[in-house]
Amino acid sequence: MDHLTPEQRAQLEEKMRREWDERARRNARFYVNTGRQDWTDEEFFASGERTVAEEILTDMINICQGKDPQRMKVLEIGCGAGRVTRALARLFGYVYAVDVSGEMVRQARAALAGFPNVRIEQNNGWDLTVLGDIKVDFAFSSIVFQHIPSKAIIESYLREVNRVLRRGRLFKFQVQGYPAIERAPDDTWLGVAFSDEEIVELAERCGFEPRYRHGAGTQYFWIWFFKWNYRQLARYFWRRASQYLFMRSET
Ligand SMILES: C[S@@+](CC[C@H](N)C(=O)[O-])C[C@H]1O[C@@H](n2cnc3c(N)ncnc32)[C@H](O)[C@@H]1O
Repeated sequence: MDHLTPEQRAQLEEKMRREWDERARRNARFYVNTGRQDWTDEEFFASGERTVAEEILTDMINICQGKDPQRMKVLEIGCGAGRVTRALARLFGYVYAVDVSGEMVRQARAALAGFPNVRIEQNNGWDLTVLGDIKVDFAFSSIVFQHIPSKAIIESYLREVNRVLRRGRLFKFQVQGYPAIERAPDDTWLGVAFSDEEIVELAERCGFEPRYRHGAGTQYFWIWFFKWNYRQLARYFWRRASQYLFMRSET
């Protein structure tokens, strides 16, 4: 994983915010979904309904785990102009959404003005402190991490999702999995790529079981991280303690 000094992180934070604000002001809906330059409201939000139909409605067993969706609180990272957020707000009881771009957040809030069950905040681009001490039953992120220029920032999000997600619950997200992309290290359009091995290591470091992965090696590398339950947590500490005791007995 790359390591960022506080100064490097601040620079990237500022660059992500500035460049996504510029994209949002130029044509937010195009940069959210490059399928079209001139989306009508109807088509744009219908495309968000399709994302939810494909990635969420087909997967309700993992996502809801028997809970009524209307009683669930969910989190979306990188909500853009509210394309998917609107469909999430129809399905789930409450939606928290964050985005690094203030202009995207402004547009998403306008798109969701009639929805009392949504809270949309501009965040710093790497953590969820803006939402405070919330708890959610499901977290989701689609076509966002593929734009993030640093693995350390994505790891920071995973630790943050682990903090706010209830035990045993799912964070379903997509990353760039195609490794051979030529990009500048601080490119905020072409983000960093992950191998399957890196994703498995990340899960262990951040307290998740990487139960399913689909599309490794492609742009649409989808990942199902379940937050460790107490048994998995205990097993992890037992393993770390045994390794420590073994090392001490060797010296
Ligand atoms: C291609 S758009 C996708 C928006 C939304 N997920 C959708 O599918 O409609 C990517 C979004 O991610 C946001 N984004 C990029 N980097 C981010 C970061 N580090 N933290 C939060 N949001 C970020 C951008 O501002 C933009 O709104």
